[in-house]
Amino acid sequence: MAKIDLPRENFTSKFGVIAAAAGSAVGLGNIWRFPYIAGENGGGAFLLVYLLFIIAIGMPVMLSEFSIGRKAQRNAIGSFKKLAPGTPWYFVGVIGVAAAFLILAFYSTVAGWTLEYVVKSATDSFADKTGDEISQLFAAFHTGTFWPLLWQLIFMGVTLAIVMAGIKDGIERYVKILMPLLVLMIIVICIRSLTLPGAAEGVSYLFSPDFSRLTTEGVLAALGQAFFSLSLGMGTLITYGSYISKKEKLGSTVTQVTIADTVIAMLAGIAIFPAVFAFGIAPDAGPGLVFETLPNVFQEMAGGYFFGLIFFILLSIAALTSSISILEVVVAYMKEELNMTRRSASIFAAAIITLLGVLCTLSFGVMQEVTIFETRLFDLMEFSASDVLLPIGGLLIVLFIGWYLGAARTREEVSNDNSLKVRYFPAYMFLIKFIAPVAIAIVFLYGIGLLNI
Ligand code: PFF
Repeated sequence: MAKIDLPRENFTSKFGVIAAAAGSAVGLGNIWRFPYIAGENGGGAFLLVYLLFIIAIGMPVMLSEFSIGRKAQRNAIGSFKKLAPGTPWYFVGVIGVAAAFLILAFYSTVAGWTLEYVVKSATDSFADKTGDEISQLFAAFHTGTFWPLLWQLIFMGVTLAIVMAGIKDGIERYVKILMPLLVLMIIVICIRSLTLPGAAEGVSYLFSPDFSRLTTEGVLAALGQAFFSLSLGMGTLITYGSYISKKEKLGSTVTQVTIADTVIAMLAGIAIFPAVFAFGIAPDAGPGLVFETLPNVFQEMAGGYFFGLIFFILLSIAALTSSISILEVVVAYMKEELNMTRRSASIFAAAIITLLGVLCTLSFGVMQEVTIFETRLFDLMEFSASDVLLPIGGLLIVLFIGWYLGAARTREEVSNDNSLKVRYFPAYMFLIKFIAPVAIAIVFLYGIGLLNI
């Protein structure tokens, strides 16, 4: 039976588009993941490479994803089927949907931790604790079974409820207020962190590039982080792009979302690294970094109880506006391609993701011993999704635009049927055709050790 093109759900305003896309981009990736990945990879030099990737690869890929989705008016897999019928290009979407399962699985583990920290803050659990005691508190909590799982289930339940109800007004409305509040909170925390004794060491760790600390894996991690942070490479922004009205300017949306995302990641770094050094925590402490450093900062600041509480609430919300965008990738696909209802697609997808997520959560505790290639399940899923699937997805997306869809058809979409002057277009096309694919391929092959000098 032929598919009928029903009028598609759209975001209702320009700000709604920005808020939803920025809501997806800004999340745990900025505040939890960026500082610890930067810490593990030596700080300053990592930051420079990361910024370079954001500009030269991230922004063009984002524009490509929006264009594909808006042109096709379909989900991540359906978009390729529509724009490249009878070809294997739809496989790009398949990779994306697979990545969505893996990413939301480990994302919901950490999102669950943030909920626990809302409660810990509310009950003033950090009061009068030393840095060591705060680290022990985290260790005891996240290696446990009951509480981390309960929080994860609650988080997935809320994500499910929102996606099931459709995105529209609710999210648009809340994100508009909450995102600016999050920025404000981080600025306040930055100020306190920067005035801690020994802050300078942290700032210089983050901002003075020492290239001897940067490895090829570190460069791959920077690329993976750029994709992860901007929500790229798995069709999230293809899916959201399909809800953007034909009147919006895609180019300026890309710029605004990228600036918001990058500024928040930098602020998180400025909030966290001074505290890392002031409280003697190792900068490469891994996934627990934020949960071990920030409670110390809150403890030290006037009104810390209040700020800590608000901060973890906002962090949970930032995680939620990202997690719904990840679930939406799977749901939009199941709904449109498998003809499921939104409701059953949402329940089905969330259930499978939660099962995977439970394994991730337990891999810090009772399932610690279960490792693959000597790697904890959580780290394996995080690495294979962020540093492998997202860059591969990104590579295929730029190849699709640059070498399959071509300049003329892409220009049509980006310029709203030639009604906008898009002066950046030749530069964009050049990056997409030549620079981005070569750069992604090289970084990826070196990073996973397939190429060696
Ligand atoms: N960008 C989100 C963050 O930084 O937390 C995470 C994310 C969302 C990754 C959506 C990928 C994605 F498709």
